[in-house]
Amino acid sequence: MSQATIESILHEKRLFHPSEDFSNRAHIKNLDEYRQLYDRAKTDPEGFWEELAETELHWFKKWERVLDWQPPFAQWFAGGKINISYNCLDRHLNGDRKDKPALIWEGEPGDSRIFTYAELHREVCQMANAIKELGVKKGDRVGIYMPMIPSAAIAMLACARIGAPHTVVFGGFSAEALKDRLEDAEAKLVITADGGWRKDAIVPLKDQVDKALEAGAPGVENVLVVKRTQQEISMQPGRDHWWHDLQTRVSADCPAEEMDSEDMLFILYTSGTTGKPKGVVHTTGGYNLYTHVTSKWIFDLRDDDVYWCTADVGWITGHSYIVYGPLSNGATTLMYEGAPRASNPGCLWDVVQKYGVTIFYTAPTAIRALMKLGEQHPDARDLSSLRLLGTVGEPINPEAWMWYHRVIGGGKCPIVDTWWQTETGGVMITPLPGATPTKPGSCTLPFPGIVADVVDAEGEPVTDESGGYLVVRQPWPGMMRTVYGDPDRFRRTYWEYLRPQDGNPIYFAGDGARKDEEGYFWVMGRVDDVINVAGHRLGTMEVESALVSHPAVAEAAVVGCPHEVKGEEIVAFVTLKEDLDASEELENELKQHVVNEIGALARPKEIRFTEELPKTRSGKIMRRLLRSLASGEEISGDTSTLQDRGVLEKLRGG
Ligand code: PRX
Repeated sequence: MSQATIESILHEKRLFHPSEDFSNRAHIKNLDEYRQLYDRAKTDPEGFWEELAETELHWFKKWERVLDWQPPFAQWFAGGKINISYNCLDRHLNGDRKDKPALIWEGEPGDSRIFTYAELHREVCQMANAIKELGVKKGDRVGIYMPMIPSAAIAMLACARIGAPHTVVFGGFSAEALKDRLEDAEAKLVITADGGWRKDAIVPLKDQVDKALEAGAPGVENVLVVKRTQQEISMQPGRDHWWHDLQTRVSADCPAEEMDSEDMLFILYTSGTTGKPKGVVHTTGGYNLYTHVTSKWIFDLRDDDVYWCTADVGWITGHSYIVYGPLSNGATTLMYEGAPRASNPGCLWDVVQKYGVTIFYTAPTAIRALMKLGEQHPDARDLSSLRLLGTVGEPINPEAWMWYHRVIGGGKCPIVDTWWQTETGGVMITPLPGATPTKPGSCTLPFPGIVADVVDAEGEPVTDESGGYLVVRQPWPGMMRTVYGDPDRFRRTYWEYLRPQDGNPIYFAGDGARKDEEGYFWVMGRVDDVINVAGHRLGTMEVESALVSHPAVAEAAVVGCPHEVKGEEIVAFVTLKEDLDASEELENELKQHVVNEIGALARPKEIRFTEELPKTRSGKIMRRLLRSLASGEEISGDTSTLQDRGVLEKLRGG
């Protein structure tokens, strides 16, 4: 398709409708059905969610109350007894699903494994018993630091089974970042692997765990290690245990613990506007229900689907839409360890072809990288099994949307552009693929039960088409419950940032958006000090704290600068301590320092040394100016509050 054609489609704001065939077979078949659900949920949210909780999930005991809302603290289905591992496994064992593939796994080197529901259940029970044997009890926290192998999902389900909240730490985080998270969560056990494969190299996960535990996290008593990459690692007697040794000893009988609906299911750390990541807390019943229903309606899951989400289990997308949502629905979920790499740029399409993948869910940054690699790779494989595509993690540029639609979807697959966050637990604004006509670049309409809006700084709705803050006005079952150990931070950050005059608290978590004349949402990106690098969320303050912890650095300011594949990249402005000189060597050292403190995902693209940072007279760093400088743009807007205008000239010159 030529650029001119793309532009004319975008200019006409063309709507893409699902095919009749797709709609007729979909769970939600047309816009009228969507609107009925939406209106019902808006007028009677408790009735709406209660009915779904009754029909879609297994409960050991019914709840006493659907919703207890003491803003900003919500309790959903309190008094109800439930276990998400039971809902994901045990309840599928009675009929045909028992022998259906639950988890298809493809390793990067080409090894693979398929677990039926019965087999996955057995492994989860064994790991649950092993965890118990290592002294973990209901309520204890378990750290999971794993590559993309089945044991990662098994470990999560095993923790959930015995009621031990997990905190999964993405394998790309450094030992230092791992230590911080294990400490904050007060984890008792860490589950890891010797290593994982990443672009034909081994990521030495167990070594990182060793370093983290040398540096801190004294609460960790045991480490359970899965063998994956086989290189030599050190095992500390008494503390470290091989999973394959324990597995032969433990029983495969482990009944699921009856959890209260509001018992904590997991903590997942995410970046915010301060230097310290927040432990986002999700609980059991509401999260189970919300990820179940969103998976079913948004991915239109059917029993014969092979569903593949390319996220890592270390992020919320992996939690909600690789593990819990799909398995709760009895679907077949696929997990892939690898990523496109020089030795096989077409590996994703090999996997689609090999397993006949029908639903494919990925991120815009991945789509843009695949576009760059060229159409010859998808063209050389049979992708005709695909029927639905999805995207998540950042705004998708219409060009990438069109490419995805044409080259991967063969022009026939609806695309669900799903807006949501770690905090929301599940998807909030999205097309329902058989019902919602889509517009490239828009995440379209709120999911039933989600009352979303765009408001100004006073919390008042803005008129259509003008930009504002993206907010949610009512609680929903998948919402985060608190920041681990810091309920006050939860209140301040999300529910008190905007204070509308009517006094009703509204949820705001950092995005700007606009609504068009048809009520479609267009998310514009973060409006706070959070940047999104290749779909990874990073706080500028977090990177700044890492930089100033280096002995040479006096002050640092970090901004995002646009990048054609990654969305944004990190540029750091650094002032050095008095008698120190800038050098290339120091630049490299500082970049490596950030990698050591946070992980490779936070490596700055560029460090600019400067004698001074542009500040207002009250001493606040003017990031807007730094952003313009980093992107090579002309500085526009008001600079009158700048304390010393000479700084700008110097920065331009430097
Ligand atoms: O800025 C939004 C962007 O990702 C942020 C949430 O990041 P995280 O908690 O890491 O979760 C990512 C996966 C759910 C949001 O505040 N974002 C996510 N999805 C979209 C998006 N921006 C635009 N369109 C989306 N579909």
